[in-house]
Amino acid sequence: MTDWDERFSRGDELHGGLPSPPLPQAIEGVTPGTALDLASGAGRHAIFLAERGWRVHAIDSSRVGIQRMLHEARERNVKIEAEVTDLEAPGFVLEREYDLICDFYFLHRPLFAQIRKAVKPGGLFVAAIHVGKGRFLLEPGELRKTFEDWKILHYREGESPESAHRHPTAELITLRG
Ligand SMILES: C[S@@+](CC[C@H](N)C(=O)[O-])C[C@H]1O[C@@H](n2cnc3c(N)ncnc32)[C@H](O)[C@@H]1O
Repeated sequence: MTDWDERFSRGDELHGGLPSPPLPQAIEGVTPGTALDLASGAGRHAIFLAERGWRVHAIDSSRVGIQRMLHEARERNVKIEAEVTDLEAPGFVLEREYDLICDFYFLHRPLFAQIRKAVKPGGLFVAAIHVGKGRFLLEPGELRKTFEDWKILHYREGESPESAHRHPTAELITLRG
């Protein structure tokens, strides 16, 4: 079992099944299409999207997280295409294009270049990732800079509204022109 498997087995990191605030904000008034949830965890964003008519592909390396998500999806009578995959594996590529990609609280910088290609023109990228010093943390301003040539619909860095995490969070909603 991985560290994340253990956390999900204990019922940690579920956030009451509620999505991070930028996601509901991002899809307000948007016609549902295809969505990719990167590092989907126990599925709070994938399920939120699927219940609103999005066709969701969810990827995470935690088998337990994926199992929890699929169990909850069955209970709620929605379908999610789930994949247990290491997003940091050398040679990993996003092979499809999506109307929406989301990344909540997972940082692997090489994915940004892939996300930029895999969001369809007119599609959205939505993220909330911690900021600070260290390999798994964004530099201040880094997320905004990475997508500065897209249309930024929302950007905020500061205390996370959803957890008492010791690092601030960068939130981004951006549209590929
Ligand atoms: C902080 S949790 C966030 C989960 C979910 N996005 C959310 O906001 O509820 C980080 C997630 O990243 C996943 N993860 C960590 N390293 C990964 C990797 N190399 N490939 C795929 N998923 C990974 C973990 O299994 C965990 O589900």
